[in-house]
This record gives sequence, C-alpha cells and structure tokens, in this order.
Amino acid sequence: MQAAIDYIRVKTKITPAAGVVLGSGLGAFAEELAVRTEIPYTEIPGWPQSTAVGHAGKLVLGKLGELDVAVLSGRAHLYEGHPMEKVVFGTRVLARLGVKAMVYTNAAGGINPGYSQGALVLVSDHIHLQGTNPLVGPNDDSLGPRFPDMSDAYDAEFRQRAKAVGARRGIELGEGVYAAMLGPSYETPAEIRYLRAIGADLVGMSTAPEVIAARHMGVRCLAISCVTNMAAGILPQKINHEEVLETGARVRGTLVRLLRELLPELVS
Ligand code: HPA
Repeated sequence: MQAAIDYIRVKTKITPAAGVVLGSGLGAFAEELAVRTEIPYTEIPGWPQSTAVGHAGKLVLGKLGELDVAVLSGRAHLYEGHPMEKVVFGTRVLARLGVKAMVYTNAAGGINPGYSQGALVLVSDHIHLQGTNPLVGPNDDSLGPRFPDMSDAYDAEFRQRAKAVGARRGIELGEGVYAAMLGPSYETPAEIRYLRAIGADLVGMSTAPEVIAARHMGVRCLAISCVTNMAAGILPQKINHEEVLETGARVRGTLVRLLRELLPELVS
C-alpha cells in the first residue's frame, strides 16, 4: 500500500479530504474536478485492475471549488476474482491519503416495490452476504481495531445533509437497506424473496466490504444506490447488464449535481 501512496504523492499535491467511488455506468463525476490529475489504475503499484464493463479504471484527484477530492472511477469487485484486500485497496489508500469522508455510489436492483427504475436511494445500512470480510486475517492495529463497531456504518448526519441538498435541488432520495451479494449472476426470484424477508430494500455486488474497511479506519461513509433495475421476480422481465448501464447513464447527470453540492458539506 505504501508504494501506491508514494506513487500518488509524486503525481499530485492534492491532499483529498473526501473520496468518491463511482459505480457501474456512473463514471461522470470525475469530469467535475478542476486541476485534475488522472492516474490509470494500471500505473499504480498494487492497485487492482478493473475488468467490469462500464468501469473506467482510473484515480482522479482534483479540486471541487476549494475542496480537494479523490475519485475512484471504477472499482474492484469480489466477483472479478480479486481477494478482499484488493477490493478495499482503493478505500484504504484514500484513507491513508487523509480522506475523512467517503461517498460510495453503486448500481443496485430494487427490492422494495416502492422504488422505481432510475431512483437514487441513500443506503441506511447493509446486510453483507458475500461470505467473507475484508478484515479477515491478522488485524493491522495501525489501521483500526480488531472488532470495529458497525452500528453507524452509514453516517446518519451525512444522509441528512444529502436529503437537505436533494430537497433544495428537487432531487428525490429514498432510503433503504443494501444487501451485498457475491454475484456475478443476478439473484433468483427466490433469493430476492429471501432478501426482502430479511429486510433488504436494495441488492448489489459491491460497497459493503469497502464501507467495512472505511469504518475500520474511522472514515465516515455515505452510500448512494442507483436503482438501475427492479430485482429479479419483482417485475415479469429479465435483468441484463446493458439495462443496468443504460439506467446508470440516464441518472448520472442528477447524481453529478447531487455530489457537486453535497461533497463540500460533508467535510465542513
Ligand atoms: N442485483 C445485483 N446487483 C445489481 C443488480 C441486481 O439486480 N442491478 C445492478 N446491480
């Protein structure tokens, strides 16, 4: 990890206070940053390479007004075959660069029938069902405690600020519990009924491990899901990745407006 940090510090003087991870089809926000330094993941020592379609694979550092921001355009997923330590590598590097607030965006299936395709939903909590945890193995006490608390993993104050920005800008924001599945197959209708029964409103294949790693290091988190499709069996139609990307592209502009205004309020 130190080699990655050293590499980034040579490339830019930006010292990010906030970080953003852009999910499938949502990679537009990086263009908002001024005095940008873009570093392809392929250049950074130890950084996992993203293979998922719709993920650009670069770290962008720059300024949003006065604020120094780091954007991960593209993330590593467990289903790509990356070990957990690589899935959370970006989060840990940003935390070590000094980021105090992280915003995770993702594409998700809507389980809650109150959602519709294209909705933006603030994650209030997660149910991590990927079967392993980024903190498995010896604990690095310099990063955080062995048994970190997860009762406020998704910062309530951050969600309130996001809602205030949404209200001001006419951006409707739902709230719900995110179930993290391993993937890469989408869920069966029976799995979605199960997830609904255990209290999930959204389902996706990312975010939960990253939030666990961020909270381990004391970083406050906000997560925003874009409901790119209704989950399996909710509607009488199949799910495909093109639809996920198309919906992401449709909502991207709204998400950019939200992030642009919200980020400075998370670190003030
Ligand atoms: N399930 C899991 N992950 C997803 C979905 C889904 O329906 N849509 C986008 N990411």
